[in-house]
Amino acid sequence: TVKAVIAPSILAADFGDLAADAKNVIDLGADTLHVDIMDGHFVPNMSIGAPVVKSLRKHLPNAFLDCHLMVSDPEKWVQDFANAGANNYTFHVEAHADPSALIDKIHAAGMKAGVAVKPGTPVEEVIPFAEKADLILIMTVEPGFGGQSFMPSVMPKVEALRKQFPNLDIQVDGGLGLNTIETAASAGANVIVAGTSVFAATDRKAVIEGLRTVVNA
Ligand code: DX5
Ligand code: ZN
Repeated sequence: TVKAVIAPSILAADFGDLAADAKNVIDLGADTLHVDIMDGHFVPNMSIGAPVVKSLRKHLPNAFLDCHLMVSDPEKWVQDFANAGANNYTFHVEAHADPSALIDKIHAAGMKAGVAVKPGTPVEEVIPFAEKADLILIMTVEPGFGGQSFMPSVMPKVEALRKQFPNLDIQVDGGLGLNTIETAASAGANVIVAGTSVFAATDRKAVIEGLRTVVNA
């Protein structure tokens, strides 16, 4: 069966001391770093772009950088992120007319490809790409902001995917922490994005280990 992947979201890190904060969670046991890219158009907020990924890559040569593009034109940034050193490029199914072609383009650029769905988008929209993509991201909050509440109402989407695809990497993102991980893990999620719950914790290591233990149970 699938293994837990714990992916702290650097949206909740200290952007003024980003490399150190990112390195800290890796040293404490995180598997990957989740990097949230927002364009102020697909979502009502802005964050960071490829130049920050490039800088992070310089400071953390071996980190797996999992980039989540909450942008209206995901095709436009593929090469920039590949050049910056991104390992995974996840785009929203709502933002592209031909997800299959975009997955090919991401793979051709040397990155893994993920496909994301917002809470209001039916899982049927991503099922056709679950074999071709390297991961499917089921959003557990409305994308745009960290620190929101986990939406248990989307768990049937995770359950439906897990039932059809026993080996698929199913990512959940938004409101994950020690209080919500049980719900997400029992639905079948194994790639866990956690921003606030990790970066705001006094014991970050305990949170990372706690999330992993529940997923792998
Ligand atoms: C939301 C982002 C998330 C966010 C999660 O739009 O995609 O990755 O950083 O943050 P928490 O874990 O604080 O909900
Ligand atoms: Zn995200």
